Amino acid sequence: MILATNITLSYDKKKKIIENGNFHIKQQEFIFVSGSSGSGKSTLLKSLYGKLKIMSGQLFINKINLSKGGQSNLLELRKNLGIIFQDYKLIQEYTIEENIILPLKIKGYDDIVSQKQVEKLLKHIKLSHRIGSYPAELSGGEQQRVAVARALAHNPKIILADEPTGNLDEYSAGVIWDLLKSANELLGITVIVVTHQIPVNFGIRYRRFNIDDGVIYEAS
Ligand SMILES: Nc1ncnc2c1ncn2[C@@H]1O[C@H](COP(=O)(O)OP(=O)(O)O)[C@@H](O)[C@H]1O
Ligand SMILES: [Mg+2]
Repeated sequence: MILATNITLSYDKKKKIIENGNFHIKQQEFIFVSGSSGSGKSTLLKSLYGKLKIMSGQLFINKINLSKGGQSNLLELRKNLGIIFQDYKLIQEYTIEENIILPLKIKGYDDIVSQKQVEKLLKHIKLSHRIGSYPAELSGGEQQRVAVARALAHNPKIILADEPTGNLDEYSAGVIWDLLKSANELLGITVIVVTHQIPVNFGIRYRRFNIDDGVIYEAS
């Protein structure tokens, strides 16, 4: 599913953020990525969603060759990806349901199917009562729950999340972990999450990667 062979990541071709990284992630694995601030966790995710072209090595996601670059490659990749950022990145001018429906529009889903999907997701994120609200009217935790629903809306094969619960209240963080766990267990979605704190008693199998001084390795 995701195969990285000797990948080196750099913004300017001089300073290498990650050097000769190797990993293999299979369908339905749950991966935590940790490492100190500035170690390259977000940079690694950027390479996985095609925002940062790898400097050298080979990177395959769902048989898409990301070593090559190219727009058609990226469009194909993004159809199968859901991304969650620490700062939510919701569209402020859209209601929460319009935000969630956006990836469905891009993927060409039927309006009625989309509507059903949004209602189902709002229930899962426990925000059905906030339909019609704009992001600014919600708390940070509620906004992030909307961002998670948006990431899941188009049934992606992979979810990438960059410190998704970083600044959140405990309740919202719990809702988000539960959603990511069920996406993984029930829907078979591969989940890769950057986080400082792996929840205790997480309850499902996971692997842990660590980045330290440019080296990415599997921690036990
Ligand atoms: N857009 C960028 N251009 C140049 N350097 C960057 C850019 N983004 C991050 N960096 C540098 O790359 C290194 C890793 O950053 P990052 O991946 O954001 O770390 P982390 O997410 O682990 O805190 C840092 O030294 C950071 O300054
Ligand atoms: Mg980061």
